[in-house]
Amino acid sequence: MMLLFTSSPSAAKIALEEICARDSGARLRRWLEPGVGWAELSMSWDAFAARLRQEPPIFCRHVCPVHITVPLKQEANDLEVLLEAAHQLVPSLNATQTFSVQTRLIGEGWPYARFDVNTRLADALTAQGFAVDVRQPTQILSVALTPTAGYLGVSRAADNLSDWAGGERRFKAEPEQISRAEFKLLEAVETFKLAWPSAGNALDLGAAPGGWTRIARLHGLQVTAIDPADLAPRLAADPGVRHLRHTAQRYLPGTDDTFDVILNDMRMDARDSAHLMLTARRNLKATGWAVMTLKLPHSHAERVATSALTLLRERYTLIGARQLFHNRNEITVALK
Ligand SMILES: C[S@@+](CC[C@H](N)C(=O)[O-])C[C@H]1O[C@@H](n2cnc3c(N)ncnc32)[C@H](O)[C@@H]1O
Repeated sequence: MMLLFTSSPSAAKIALEEICARDSGARLRRWLEPGVGWAELSMSWDAFAARLRQEPPIFCRHVCPVHITVPLKQEANDLEVLLEAAHQLVPSLNATQTFSVQTRLIGEGWPYARFDVNTRLADALTAQGFAVDVRQPTQILSVALTPTAGYLGVSRAADNLSDWAGGERRFKAEPEQISRAEFKLLEAVETFKLAWPSAGNALDLGAAPGGWTRIARLHGLQVTAIDPADLAPRLAADPGVRHLRHTAQRYLPGTDDTFDVILNDMRMDARDSAHLMLTARRNLKATGWAVMTLKLPHSHAERVATSALTLLRERYTLIGARQLFHNRNEITVALK
């Protein structure tokens, strides 16, 4: 059984190790590009998906099976070749469940767009009686195209680790946005299925310039923002934001404040940040949740992540830990 897996380019080796840790017989065929691996499993797709559910990977962002590979020439006729391949995959699709086509174009010089492939294949399958649902499909026809080959496979959406092609969750930039870091929090809340409380208090450690604080305010929370640096003037003038120009080390030991949500995007060593979250545990209400990033070094990233997560488990239940699409040299962790 063949599969494609993705990660950030810098975590590609760790992502491959995560695949091999769940299937010791898995072998890399080659990298289609940095962060996109094509590998052979020694087990069935269903057995591998079950392993992923038992032990979710941290650095691997997206996986999908490859049932068919076809040669491509980066010309308009490729669409006919892909259409023929999609027809061959019809027996793998469940007619009682909705589907969506997810296409990735790897490399440059494409005479057609992802959208063209998606609509062409979706229309052909719809004509055969399958029901398309691009928002919440149950099954995915994954299509990854390189200049010389197309890789196609069908799987349950829930087995692909991410709802987005290649794990590339993109958000539309808003004019009110304060920092690109906002995308990290949006992606974390969606990925870990966190529900914002309808009202209450949030603590934002390492808040400046204030993107995460802005998101918490949008959800109606009063925010205590801890950061020696300045917040965006808009937030500084907001009565729902209490900005304390302290370090977390100075603020946390002396406060009895309690919070429904704790956010932590502090730029500091992952283990130091995890230690501070242990201190902050008594400030998190029993029903509350926390999201934090763990900044990782270039070498031994996995080892540092593992030791920080071990620390966090001393006082929290781990909801999830993933290197999300918007993380660079860090992972995002959700805790309760
Ligand atoms: C990546 S930025 C946070 C971005 C923020 N989440 C946003 O959305 O705008 C990291 C912040 O951590 C702060 N920081 C670093 N060490 C800190 C500490 N010990 N206590 C509080 N804040 C700290 C830095 O001043 C910096 O503003």
